Amino acid sequence: MMAFSSLLDRLGPEISDPEEETFLLYSQDIPSQNLGFVDPQATTLDLSVAGKDYVIHQSPTILNRPGSTTGAVVWKITPLIADWLVASDNPLWTSNILSSCSDVLELGCGISGLVGLVLAPLVAKYTLTDQSYVARLVEKNIAENSPLGNPKQTKTTSQKRKGKPSAVYPKAELRFVPLDWELDEVTPSLTGSDKVKSFDLVIACDCIYNDTLIQPLVQTCADVCRLRASDKSSTDKSTVCLVAQQLRDPEIFESWIKEFNRYFQTWRIPNNALTEELRSNPGFVVHLGILRDAAETRN
Ligand SMILES: C[S@@+](CC[C@H](N)C(=O)[O-])C[C@H]1O[C@@H](n2cnc3c(N)ncnc32)[C@H](O)[C@@H]1O
Repeated sequence: MMAFSSLLDRLGPEISDPEEETFLLYSQDIPSQNLGFVDPQATTLDLSVAGKDYVIHQSPTILNRPGSTTGAVVWKITPLIADWLVASDNPLWTSNILSSCSDVLELGCGISGLVGLVLAPLVAKYTLTDQSYVARLVEKNIAENSPLGNPKQTKTTSQKRKGKPSAVYPKAELRFVPLDWELDEVTPSLTGSDKVKSFDLVIACDCIYNDTLIQPLVQTCADVCRLRASDKSSTDKSTVCLVAQQLRDPEIFESWIKEFNRYFQTWRIPNNALTEELRSNPGFVVHLGILRDAAETRN
């Protein structure tokens, strides 16, 4: 728990009352933005995160298909979270929750895989997950934006000359695995490794927007974090669960935080530990959770 106690020093008080947290967050002026897309009409986006450029393919056509296909385009909070996650003064790095040895899993990554593209070069392994409809585009985005995601891809002469793609950390790995919160079981095989059977960090970015998804999402977060307890090879560090979201409907937020708080001790990342861009956007919040002991889980 060493790493976690130094993280706690950077966080505010633990959230003891989810209703109060909802009240506090919604008593600020939340700008009414559009739903929160970066650009729902564009088929490619040029995004610059932490000094690097990414060309992301997205699909307005898939977005407009009937059914829930919100991951077909990039959501506004995501580039800001990616930027915050790689900042060297991010409390996850300074408290050693994140390190070059970390295994990270993302839930509901969408077609961009952007957080993974940005963070994977700095950690041991990054597993992107979502429903299988995102697979084709996320794999294309990984292949085109990162040599890490495509072991067959070798640098061309011009890439070598220009020194691109930059930040190649040969041991890093980035891959996509389908994982549906409502249909699939969480198993250690998600790590794709015989040696490592659990994750250090679980990330969900802008995945809270629909009441019916709250319970399966929180359950999936808890199931992934529980892998740590049965992973004999792991350290005693608990898996940390990070949930970033754009505040929309207060009832949906309250349902989520109540459900999340049943399973997880919960903190909000305070403004002074966020980047200026996240801070200056009162509708964007980041919470962090550590699984309660099974016996402690509230009914
Ligand atoms: C608003 S989008 C956010 C996408 C991406 N994280 C971003 O911020 O750009 C919500 C994501 O949750 C995913 N999602 C919704 N229901 C899901 C389920 N049952 N299982 C897995 N992922 C799901 C969607 O496919 C979508 O990618």
